[in-house]
Amino acid sequence: MTSYKELGLVNTKDMFAKAVEGGYAIPAYNFNNMEQMQAIIQACVETKSPVILQVSAGARKYANGTLLRNMAKGAVEYAKELGYEIPIVLHLDHGADFEICKECIDNGFSSVMIDGSHHPYEENVALTKKVVEYAHQHDVTVEGELGVLAGIEDDVVAEKSTYTQPEEVIDFVSKTGVDSLAISIGTSHGANKFTPEQCTRNAEGILVPPPLRFDILEEIEKKLPGFPIVLHGSSSVPQDQVKIINENGGALKDAVGIPEEQLRTASKSAVCKINIDSDGRLAMTAAIRKHMAENPSHFDPRQYLSPARESLKEIYKAKNINVLGSANQA
Ligand code: G3H
Ligand code: 13P
Ligand code: ZN
Repeated sequence: MTSYKELGLVNTKDMFAKAVEGGYAIPAYNFNNMEQMQAIIQACVETKSPVILQVSAGARKYANGTLLRNMAKGAVEYAKELGYEIPIVLHLDHGADFEICKECIDNGFSSVMIDGSHHPYEENVALTKKVVEYAHQHDVTVEGELGVLAGIEDDVVAEKSTYTQPEEVIDFVSKTGVDSLAISIGTSHGANKFTPEQCTRNAEGILVPPPLRFDILEEIEKKLPGFPIVLHGSSSVPQDQVKIINENGGALKDAVGIPEEQLRTASKSAVCKINIDSDGRLAMTAAIRKHMAENPSHFDPRQYLSPARESLKEIYKAKNINVLGSANQA
């Protein structure tokens, strides 16, 4: 058993309370390797932002859970070495069952998500409650989910989104004791969040997605005043990065994300955690493809991973400053 406290990590409790009060959102960035972790920490130290390091089941499979946990431990020391101590959470993203949540709680995670959103309501309640009861014994915070996002949630593919029903949220939160609630208001996982048919096109022919359902968010906020709300699937899919990828041998078609202004609006509400993974993937891939195309003789991974890491860092810094409002909140 390794407590996150021994690793210098924190849970989400104070972080979320301050974010809801201050009208900003904490970035939850997924990481699977060293370069992503370095970019996240560098960006958050340079912008003085609290951060949630997010690990999916896929990341644990890819990189090994023990290594990722020790990287998070290293991240705490690394941030100090860079000259500014920021609060860091290590969070399990989309925990599918009690067992994976328990394993993470027992092994240094300070926060877990139990994603029971695809189960019938009562099963979601029972599963989430079970995780909360175990997590709270160890001072670990828990995120639950109500409503289903379109796109891919780890191994679960939801073709259509089902918006969160505001009439369920009070019952869910009081029965389960969760510390935060992920909701579905029109965000979606991945780089193709909407089909072209769901979008309109602007004057330049760029796809414009349907707006987020702020009316549902408002209703939820009325039912749960000040309660921490989480948005998944919140990458903006920057078109300049998509263009670089496609100009350098990539084939991304109809990639579209959530406009930054809408995420800025959401950050000012009870939304206090915004999950971003795909934008990091796009930034890394764009930088690597460009570097490879321009430098065909390079074969040292450091040559192409350095610009990829730099580009990632810039994307994260811009998000903290301009979108989430988390800069200078650490
Ligand atoms: O919501 C899913 C995250 O983007 C993690 O994706 O399961 O491919 O690691 P992954
Ligand atoms: P994106 O695919 O929009 O980056 O969402 C990531 C996410 O929700 C991780 O849980
Ligand atoms: Zn997600």
